[in-house]
Amino acid sequence: MTAVSDPLLTELLDLALEAARRAGALLRDGRPDDLAVAKTKSSPIDVVTEMDIAAEKLITGFLSEHRPQDGFLGEEGASSPGTSGIRWVIDPLDGTVNYLYGLPTWAVSIAAERDGETVVGVVEAPMRGETYRAVLGGGAYAGERRLAVRPSPPLDQALLGTGFGYVQSRRAHQADVAQRVIPRVRDIRRGGSAAIDLCDVAAGRLDAYYERGLNPWDLAAGALIAREAGGLTGGRPGEQESGELTVAASPGLFAPLQELLEELGAWHD
Ligand code: IPD
Ligand code: CA
Ligand code: CA
Repeated sequence: MTAVSDPLLTELLDLALEAARRAGALLRDGRPDDLAVAKTKSSPIDVVTEMDIAAEKLITGFLSEHRPQDGFLGEEGASSPGTSGIRWVIDPLDGTVNYLYGLPTWAVSIAAERDGETVVGVVEAPMRGETYRAVLGGGAYAGERRLAVRPSPPLDQALLGTGFGYVQSRRAHQADVAQRVIPRVRDIRRGGSAAIDLCDVAAGRLDAYYERGLNPWDLAAGALIAREAGGLTGGRPGEQESGELTVAASPGLFAPLQELLEELGAWHD
């Protein structure tokens, strides 16, 4: 395993791993049989459960106990700038719809940024029994296994992951883009967790992934893990990944996929 020489990054990684482990256990073991929707957000299908909220509370409580000066950005409302230059970016439950239905593809995603740059990423996927992690410059791992993207296939043989947002007008255009991508690639998967999709690129289980409309908490940890596994991440050609568009792929596939997505207008609604 590549040793991480910066003690601060080691501390942040250890805290992220422990917070994600605890939240993952809470979500896995504490899921009520009659789990219901607690509230909706951007649309009636954008749901939050009591467990999303409990997991975020656990994570922010644990991290702020150990590092009271750090900032937070959490999907369920955690928001503070902090004074240490470190900010935690948290999706306490990525894949809420899967979780609600009892499907296994969901994860806890925790990233640490230093002065705005992601330096640590942890994605805990309890129903897979896997924890993905990366430190900037230190490689990506799942347990003892070093992660590496697949050798790049030609675009027409690529297995892609993607996702769809919760707002109807956006979904309609995303479906239209996907319809035009499918004949140009091997196939498309819609797993239901952006964080896991990015880790699947890192682990060589997908050749690439793209989605419009992600938030920082969906992508921060997974994008670092994909990059540290040798993948490239970005948005529209020449741009960084963002809510406008996120693309992650093995290096030889990245530019051809970006070009196709540009041609199809995957970056707009
Ligand atoms: C969602 C998942 C999904 C993606 C959506 C995200 P949530 O996050 O990552 O795969 O397609 O864009 O919003 O709401 O389950 O945390
Ligand atoms: Ca999410
Ligand atoms: Ca979430």
